[in-house]
Amino acid sequence: MSELKQGLDLERIIFIGRTYEEYIAMFNLTEADILQNEILDCPAGACSFTAYANQMGGDVTAVDLAFAFEPEELKIKGLQDIKHGVEQVEKVKAGYLWTYFDNTEALKQHRIRALEDSTADRLQHPSRYLHAVLPELPFADDSFDMTLSAHLLFMYSERLDLAFHQAALLELMRVTRREIRIFPLVDQQSEQSVHLDPILALIEQEQWQTEVCTSSYEFQQNANQYLRIYRP
Ligand SMILES: C[S@@+](CC[C@H](N)C(=O)[O-])C[C@H]1O[C@@H](n2cnc3c(N)ncnc32)[C@H](O)[C@@H]1O
Repeated sequence: MSELKQGLDLERIIFIGRTYEEYIAMFNLTEADILQNEILDCPAGACSFTAYANQMGGDVTAVDLAFAFEPEELKIKGLQDIKHGVEQVEKVKAGYLWTYFDNTEALKQHRIRALEDSTADRLQHPSRYLHAVLPELPFADDSFDMTLSAHLLFMYSERLDLAFHQAALLELMRVTRREIRIFPLVDQQSEQSVHLDPILALIEQEQWQTEVCTSSYEFQQNANQYLRIYRP
């Protein structure tokens, strides 16, 4: 087993990602945001934001613990995870808003497209996809203008405790020059994360500023806000 994979079990990784278009809507990103900033997507998962933004002329780096595994083996796992994930959504359809996706088939097609596009891009541009495990990132201080972080912090508040959230956020702040956006602010039960208030206190203590922004994307009920954290 390679050094990267030590302690990591592919079966325990859920390899799913959103499309470029979902990220644009989720984080209200403009073309200027993409073209004028060095961006970190952490964790990127099987999201196709990096692929498309870089094709447009952007400068995006994707980081995920899953990148310890080869693209093709992750794609096989990702296809299994999409099938399982869509079956779970089917059971609790009322917990989701069916405006962005018409139905579960459309959801599945978006997830497959993101997985295929991100896998192809990683094969073509491997240096854009780095393995790292929060709360530690292999970057110098202030390496990125903007960091995007979706569907890990706050979302998994039951599994990831406050100490993890604090350490992860401090690390994201260390590597970010200007601005961090975190989506969403609710947990898997669609309740506001129990870690949100202490994290806001930590940000204030670090003398960064925050703004809760309404996203133009909502699929999981109430998952329609992101936290903008920026240097004054
Ligand atoms: C639900 S996916 C979200 C992917 C993408 N941000 C999106 O919104 O589509 C969560 C990702 O977090 C990654 N992950 C979990 N814990 C991590 C950690 N401590 N450090 C880095 N990545 C982690 C997983 O491997 C998975 O790919």
